[in-house]
Amino acid sequence: MSIDQDPFSRELLHWYDHHARTLPWRVRPAERAAGVRPDPYRVWLSEIMLQQTTVAAVKSYFERFVNRWPDVAHLAVAPEETVLGEWAGLGYYARARNLHACAKIVSERFGGRFPRTAAELKELPGIGDYTSAAIAAIAFDEPAAVVDGNVERVVTRLFAIDTPLPAAKTAIRAEVATLTPNARPGDFAQAMMDLGATVCTPTKPACVICPIRGGCRAAAAGTQERYPVKPPKAAVPSRKGAAFVAVRRSDGAVWLRRRTEKGMLSGMSEPPSTGWNARGDGATGAAAAPFPANWRYCGDVAHGFTHFKLDLEVWHAEIDGDPPIEGWWSPPGEQTGEALPTLMRKVLKSALSAAAPSKP
Ligand code: ADE
Repeated sequence: MSIDQDPFSRELLHWYDHHARTLPWRVRPAERAAGVRPDPYRVWLSEIMLQQTTVAAVKSYFERFVNRWPDVAHLAVAPEETVLGEWAGLGYYARARNLHACAKIVSERFGGRFPRTAAELKELPGIGDYTSAAIAAIAFDEPAAVVDGNVERVVTRLFAIDTPLPAAKTAIRAEVATLTPNARPGDFAQAMMDLGATVCTPTKPACVICPIRGGCRAAAAGTQERYPVKPPKAAVPSRKGAAFVAVRRSDGAVWLRRRTEKGMLSGMSEPPSTGWNARGDGATGAAAAPFPANWRYCGDVAHGFTHFKLDLEVWHAEIDGDPPIEGWWSPPGEQTGEALPTLMRKVLKSALSAAAPSKP
């Protein structure tokens, strides 16, 4: 029997044919069967956006990107600040810089065509094991083993893998490689992801409607929610710093600057903040201000990064002339277009609402 007739992939693909989620970057199984091919640009863009971010959060960003830049050549010639501006709010900003660098390489060196194999794709900026396998499988039918968090959950339950993550990753990948069929590997990968997202959920999985329940060791033992086994959580360090929001008295514009090319939130915009990072605190207090003004403290903003928590003091001042540091005035109505990360949007909101005149 060829692997294509393997009952596992047959059951799963049959389920996917009827229950695939409709997603803006996806070619539905019926369209695929009628010969429609996924656009590698859309597959790549969606997979980069979906790294560390949920489908729900990505949808509107994806639509905006493809409306503005319908193919890789258009994205490649866009200014980096504009791409970072469209990305603002999605987090993990190195992804946006790598996305742009990758678009340039594909456009300039590969004539706008993405390489077709996982091995070649992995050479490009921002494309690692997961993303190279996903693009190769979905866009180019390579039977690559696609393993994301959803797939890890499905597979550790299916085989009752007791090794904690991340040590279990090698075993999980080996199982997925064995399960992946030569026919429809992209649909198979997406079926595993959809199953993890909609049926084999972290808590209260809907095993009664699961198409692969018959072969699931955890379901047989009633231990579904034990998997995947996670290592004990490491304590997350707390860091501090301060941000200084200077507002132009005449029109309410805010002074912003571009963060450096290296480190956290590189290349993104911010009201000047002190040198906080994952490893250490930045300066705090009015004395840490980048220039003298009538600074008033308006409270702290807390933000969670993956590896640390940050508490930023927010300071506000109204000023008349230009500050003596690099930057630009950002008028009130135009801040949505700035490459402001979520943390800095919170800082502005806190400073501007604290400064707003209270109702009589
Ligand atoms: N998560 C990441 N990529 C995905 C895809 N192509 N379909 C569904 N969920 C995903």
